[in-house]
Amino acid sequence: MAIQAKSAQEMYEALKPKLSKLMPDFEIRAKAEVAYKIQQKKLERGAIILGHNYMEAALYNSVPDVVGDSLELSRRAAKTEANPIVFCGVRFMAETAKILNPDKTVLLPAEKAGCSLAASITAEDVKKLRAAYPGVPIVTYVNTYADVKAEVDICCTSANASKVVESLKSDTVIFLPDEYLARNVAAETGKQVIYPFAKPNTKAPRGTLIAWKGRCEVHEKFTPQDIQDARRQFPDVVVLSHPECSPEVVAASDFSASTTRMVEYVRTSKAPHFLILTECAMGDNIIAENPNKDILRLCSIRCPHMAEITLEDTLAALEHNRYVVDVPNPIRDRARRSLERMLEIG
Ligand code: 13P
Ligand code: SF4
Repeated sequence: MAIQAKSAQEMYEALKPKLSKLMPDFEIRAKAEVAYKIQQKKLERGAIILGHNYMEAALYNSVPDVVGDSLELSRRAAKTEANPIVFCGVRFMAETAKILNPDKTVLLPAEKAGCSLAASITAEDVKKLRAAYPGVPIVTYVNTYADVKAEVDICCTSANASKVVESLKSDTVIFLPDEYLARNVAAETGKQVIYPFAKPNTKAPRGTLIAWKGRCEVHEKFTPQDIQDARRQFPDVVVLSHPECSPEVVAASDFSASTTRMVEYVRTSKAPHFLILTECAMGDNIIAENPNKDILRLCSIRCPHMAEITLEDTLAALEHNRYVVDVPNPIRDRARRSLERMLEIG
């Protein structure tokens, strides 16, 4: 996936066809110079670069050895021999790579790179839920920190959430922390959603998902009105939304799935117009790959945490060995079990 260039000029020539619809030539040249330095440093250090689909276009299209959604990146992190692992994504993703590779150095190019979902729940919250609903299996979305993963039975991503819930063979499941993803999974699996502690000490009815009040600060901004407005202007537009969007947005869309499945959908569809309701930089990456298709996206809606990761910071990460991500034991081993159970399911 990463461009192999013999010079900054070669890097520029490889990037130009992908980026020329997105930025002026002088910027492509400047980005190519940084990308070439990253390539050199990566080879020198024997590193691997993993990049989430939300990385800005110059980064996404140049230096990552692997790009993908959370599930693919977790799988590749579990298999890699390379060391260090540079994770171009947000902290919970880099933590996942560290949990799966305890003996390797994992570098996150920005110090914080948080996530509103990961910030919405603590390990203490999970312990309270476990006590309130004894015997009910707990699933957490990977968009959580390691101490939360350590308290649950299994993880899931947007690519396998319904499959993980169904694998538990339980009428009632606690699904954390994304309220909207829980409601979208409930719609797919035929379960009802209830909220914890709404009626303290009541037993959850059969066929229930017990949800939490976390929301993605990016995807909660999309509305059914956005879809109606786009359809009025382009009656043949195909609307793709991420399942972190509200159930109303998902219901008004033509397709809803993980970021990689959205990328694949546009790649294989013959439709002329698409509206991409997810982080805006991914729309840029889809435009770069599909220059003959019209891709609409709402670029006032960017994930501020993903946007913290730049080419310049990725170079600094390799040069200065920063920012090292650590997950101490025993949290690491317990979180690893929840991740491995998910990876076994696929
Ligand atoms: P994916 O696993 O679909 O890439 O989603 C990750 C994410 O953070 C979406 O906001
Ligand atoms: Fe978290 Fe939302 Fe950003 Fe994804 S887009 S990293 S869920 S805040």
